[in-house]
Amino acid sequence: MSESKEILVTGGTGFIGSHTVVALFEQGYTPVILDNCSNSTPSIVKQISLITGKECTFYLGDMRDKAFLKSVFEKHSFEGVIHFAAFKAVAESVEKPLYYYDNNLTSLINLLGCLEEFQVNKIVFSSSCTVYGVENSLKPLNEEMPVGKPNSPYGWTKWMAEQMLIDIAGKTDLRPVFLRYFNPIGAHVSGKLGELPLGPPNNVLPYITQTAAGLRKELTIFGKDYDTPDGTCVRDYIHVMDVAKAHVKSLSYSFDSTFEVFNLGTGKGTSVLELVQLFEKVTGKPLNYQFGPRRSGDVDALFADVSKAKKFLNWNTERTIEDAILDAWKWEQYRLENEIS
Ligand code: NAD
Ligand code: UD1
Repeated sequence: MSESKEILVTGGTGFIGSHTVVALFEQGYTPVILDNCSNSTPSIVKQISLITGKECTFYLGDMRDKAFLKSVFEKHSFEGVIHFAAFKAVAESVEKPLYYYDNNLTSLINLLGCLEEFQVNKIVFSSSCTVYGVENSLKPLNEEMPVGKPNSPYGWTKWMAEQMLIDIAGKTDLRPVFLRYFNPIGAHVSGKLGELPLGPPNNVLPYITQTAAGLRKELTIFGKDYDTPDGTCVRDYIHVMDVAKAHVKSLSYSFDSTFEVFNLGTGKGTSVLELVQLFEKVTGKPLNYQFGPRRSGDVDALFADVSKAKKFLNWNTERTIEDAILDAWKWEQYRLENEIS
């Protein structure tokens, strides 16, 4: 088994990274976090300890700083890396493309240099369904589909990162696994760990929970004239702990090809309006919302074909969208009571 194998988790104080750190501890790994906290806070490390009862080594620093990154590799003997660290706000990437290309690609290039120097060949990379582009909207997306034209510089950074990893894997022992997430939502079931957006949330569920908690006046549903049953966009929302678990499975997955790609979703689409109604139903809290214009770059419907991850990773989603909503709501209240920000 994999007891005490050290895994570097870049972006480990972020939303998906922190839940993956918990899942790694639960499976006997020793995760080591590296994060510059540009979109998270160091206090998340304490929350991880509260849940797992374990102390986690944490390096506060920037992956664009080569010397810093190398110094972390010198202190450990990593079995593999899970690379979450990136900027992820689609609209911001359109406004500041260089900022996104620099952060997301320079970080990866520096990391790849260290993987080569320290002979680490396992990397699990956070990709996104955005790499399928808008061409394939309205049908289940599977990994055989060609990557399309992403609709933002953020999306292009994921597309380029995958290509970079594929090229390097073809010439070295590097064996990357790309996990293409659909819409991770929710929080740890304890309610002690969750998504912590700095500033107004871009993503829909944290906006909903902050509105219900009174931090925001109302949710604006972006568009009601999409080609979907109720006119609002459809997405494939998946519980963040199910996403976390797939990372742990990917670490021990052995494959003959030079790289592997898996979609992470549930296979089921839910509209924004349905999400709002589910929130009201499971929490019993009415939500203030109004309809507004479409958000630039959004597409009608995106949902996954997840048969490949189920078959090869022996992975299944264990939690429902209702669980995700309840856990996110628990976390919203906990973090306000405990002044975690
Ligand atoms: P997040 O912002 O919560 O986490 C990312 C973490 O990376 C943050 O803690 C941030 O401080 C850190 N970081 C960013 N740049 C860094 C740098 N140069 N050096 C060190 N740390 C740095 O985001 P998340 O939702 O947890 O997403 C994790 C990954 O998954 C990202 O790569 C994102 O693009 C990808 N992804 C997320 C979603 C989603 O809906 N959340 C969907 C698809 C893909
Ligand atoms: C997007 C990106 C994804 C990226 C993720 C992380 C695409 C296709 N997807 O997901 O690659 O990794 O963000 O940030 O670019 N909505 C509202 N009101 C709000 C917020 C959102 O109605 O206040 C709607 C959106 O219009 C969308 C749905 O909720 O239809 C989900 O939005 P969001 O949570 O931002 O995720 P995506 O845009 O699907």
